[in-house]
Amino acid sequence: MQSTGKRKDRLDSHRNLNLAFWLLVSAFCSVLLWCLTSYTALRLALPSRTHTTSLTPPLPPLSQAERRLQLRHVFHHASSTGPYSGLFRRLDQPILPQRIASSGKSDKLLRVKSKVGTVYKPTLSYFNDLVNVTTNGDMRKLNQRYHSLGNSGIYQQRDDILPDVTDHETVLAFAKMTNNAYNDPVSSKPSDWYDLGEKWHLNSSWGWDTDGVRGHVYGDDKNTTFVLVIKGTTYGIADDKLNDNILFSCCCARVGPTWRTVCDCYRSGYQCNQTCLEESVAGNELYYRMAMDMYIELKAMYPNSVIWFSGHSLGGGVASLLGATFGVPTVAFQSPGDRLAARRLHLPGPPGIRYEDMPIWHFGNTADPVFMGVCTGVTTSCWYAGYALETKCHTGKTCVWDVVKEEGWRVDIRAHRITDVIERILLKNMSLPECVVETDCVDCGPWDYVDRDQSSKKAVAIAS
Ligand SMILES: *[C@@H]1O[C@H](CO)[C@@H](O)[C@H](O)[C@H]1NC(C)=O
Ligand SMILES: *[C@@H]1O[C@H](CO)[C@@H](O)[C@H](O)[C@H]1NC(C)=O
Ligand SMILES: *[C@@H]1O[C@H](CO)[C@@H](O)[C@H](O)[C@H]1NC(C)=O
Ligand SMILES: *[C@@H]1O[C@H](CO)[C@@H](O)[C@H](O)[C@H]1NC(C)=O
Ligand SMILES: *[C@@H]1O[C@H](CO)[C@@H](O)[C@H](O)[C@H]1NC(C)=O
Repeated sequence: MQSTGKRKDRLDSHRNLNLAFWLLVSAFCSVLLWCLTSYTALRLALPSRTHTTSLTPPLPPLSQAERRLQLRHVFHHASSTGPYSGLFRRLDQPILPQRIASSGKSDKLLRVKSKVGTVYKPTLSYFNDLVNVTTNGDMRKLNQRYHSLGNSGIYQQRDDILPDVTDHETVLAFAKMTNNAYNDPVSSKPSDWYDLGEKWHLNSSWGWDTDGVRGHVYGDDKNTTFVLVIKGTTYGIADDKLNDNILFSCCCARVGPTWRTVCDCYRSGYQCNQTCLEESVAGNELYYRMAMDMYIELKAMYPNSVIWFSGHSLGGGVASLLGATFGVPTVAFQSPGDRLAARRLHLPGPPGIRYEDMPIWHFGNTADPVFMGVCTGVTTSCWYAGYALETKCHTGKTCVWDVVKEEGWRVDIRAHRITDVIERILLKNMSLPECVVETDCVDCGPWDYVDRDQSSKKAVAIAS
């Protein structure tokens, strides 16, 4: 009896010791955990200048899902020739809680639906190399290096989340986002911006509308999905016209003898120096390269989020070129043909896959001469305004409202406006057109492109 009692005592004290030990261990663990949490919290709270901030939400499940997007950030990238050379900055918008945002103005929240589909994503090594590309020459060298490796290691095919472009409200949401990108969203002070570029002392005369590229970033409040919207051409801005004319004309906007060309590649007759063209096309100054910086920055901020591109007109053209480069799903409106520009930029495309197979959609209507590639030649409105938008073949798929045949619209530059697409097509509940690949499309038919060896190539050859 007694011995059992002693044993019980011993057992009890043993248990107590055990308990004390585990209490100690758990106390130690709690302290450790607290330290770790505080450290992480502190790291998150401190502003970090590196590109690996840990604002990474879990990857959203691959499912058909609805997102409600609001304006989250605005990027502004100045050209190096303007008065604010090297300026690259970001303005953050406060995240409105869904409840408040929905009760505000109707376009504060834009509903988009998604679906699962195939994308071709650059591998990490190719992505890192792309980040370093600044000129067309670099791009060509880079792609030659990968070609010599049999094109392996450029793209990976995988399933990802795409916008559901068969959903009326989703397409309307994209159209509204591209429209809003023309507006100054806030009356901000220079000090509100977060500087991403070279040190630049902002002063009161910084230009909002005069220089460089603007990107508006829409996202949901959970950081799962973002849309980078590139602003389109603003009438009367010289840089915009230069970009339009260099990317979407046959030969440096050589339209006639009276035109000042945007590069010196024109030779005579319908002959153009191909090498010269390619060198002019991907200079650092092209909006394409500046928009690329915005994507790289956005991807660094939200590495695990879904990112899509959008834009109207030149903005749509630049967005789809970026989409083809990075395998990012893109919804463009009324943009001029971008297929020729993609080839001039030497965008590689996944091996065996054409740009046409990428998840890029071009919405447009048949009354818009820019989208249809007929805003060319003397007496068109483009000619009067100094634009040579001569290309008509698009990457990805085109989704065309035939408003000329079905609604009796006349071909008119006013049908190019995004507000016409919103007010006269989407809000009139016109049904969404089928999206198809443009086949047998040839740009710049009459032109001969001559390269360094003086050998002549027909336009058809470079377009294949
Ligand atoms: C990119 O360029 C920087 C500076 O020129 C260099 O330090 C870096 O190693 C390059 N990155 C890659 C992936 O080549
Ligand atoms: C702002 O900077 C520009 C470019 O350096 C300069 O021309 C202008 O005079 C400056 N304005 C003010 C108010 O300091
Ligand atoms: C989303 O990102 C913002 C920074 O832009 C951050 O403040 C916020 O906590 C993130 N939200 C979630 C749910 O991760
Ligand atoms: C074409 O342009 C390149 C680069 O500008 C130049 O080196 C070459 O001499 C030009 N070729 C002809 C035939 O004009
Ligand atoms: C378009 O459809 C929506 C929803 O079905 C409806 O509320 C709206 O009145 C329609 N608008 C027109 C112009 O028919």
